[in-house]
This record gives sequence, structure tokens and C-alpha cells, in this order.
Amino acid sequence: MRALTLEVNGDRLETAAPDHWTLLEVLRYKLGLTGSKQGCDKGDCGACTVLVNGTPVLACLTLAAEAQGKEVTTIEGLRPLHLAAGGSGVDPVQDAFDRCGALQCGFCQPGMMLSARALLAKDPSPSREAIQKALSGNLCRCTGYTQILEAVETALAERTGSDTPRPAWTADHDHVREGSL
Ligand code: FES
Ligand code: FES
Repeated sequence: MRALTLEVNGDRLETAAPDHWTLLEVLRYKLGLTGSKQGCDKGDCGACTVLVNGTPVLACLTLAAEAQGKEVTTIEGLRPLHLAAGGSGVDPVQDAFDRCGALQCGFCQPGMMLSARALLAKDPSPSREAIQKALSGNLCRCTGYTQILEAVETALAERTGSDTPRPAWTADHDHVREGSL
């Protein structure tokens, strides 16, 4: 066993785990932070994505000991960190995902939202291609990705005060409505 001191979501937490345990295992099975999902557990799906010093990392491929002395952010920390920074409600990325219907089963969402949060923190105005690239390591088996991209663009538009993009599904709605006239 190894004693571990981790900075998670602004809290300093002490625990102990076998030397070979990953950050994902410690988060989920020692600290009770089950928002980070254990999907493939081998670096393929991105469901385990957390932020380490603001950068997305795959927690299933990161030894817990490697995360000591660094700031770890999990999905559970997005809202409290947003509030601590003077915001209100949930983090704007979470809010946009909710309003855009960017989920079905939700399994990919913690990793998706953390990757999106990291992108918006470092790039003031990412293009759709940049958003796609930033989320390319996060796989979704349900949504088809369109609403996910629109959610990130919505959060971006609301931050910059530009027009909120119109969701793609409204075009289908218009088409049906026009056809019925
Ligand atoms: S659980 Fe880590 S990449 Fe799939
Ligand atoms: S919403 Fe089900 S995997 Fe993305």
C-alpha cells in the first residue's frame, strides 16, 4: 500500500491504495467520486477523462501516485469550482449540454464535459474543427455527436455574447412544418 495525498476539486484528500492502482481506481473506489466512468479501462474511450492541472488526462492510464502534487478536477468539481469563481448555477458547459440535449445514456458525458471545459479555458474562440479535435478522444455510443458539438458552441457563444447557434434539429422541424403548409 502507498499513502497518497491528492488535491481533488480544491480539497486536499489523504488515502492509501496499492502501488499499481490508477487515478481512476482511487477516485472511484477510495474517494467515492464515481462521476469518472470506467469504460474500456485501457485508454480507448475517454469516459475516465479528468483534468490534471487543467489538462485532460485518461485517469485509467494514470497511476494515482503520478497525480500527487497536482490539481485534479473531476466532473463533481465543475459546479463547486464555478461557484467558487463567482459564477452561479452549474458550470456553463454543463448547462449547455443539458439544454442542447447532448446526452442519452450519459456515460460519456463527464469526460466530454471536462474535455470541453479544458478547451474553452485555453482557447477563447475555438472553431468547430478545434472542438472536434479536442473531443476526439471521447467516444459516444449514443448521440451521434451533433448535439455535443452544438452544446460546446452554445457555451462558447454565451461566453462571448455572440448569437447562440441554432440546433441542427430545428432545420428538420422547419422542413416538416413547411411541407405541411
Ligand atoms: S476508461 Fe479510460 S479510456 Fe476508457
Ligand atoms: S450519451 Fe451514451 S455514450 Fe454518450
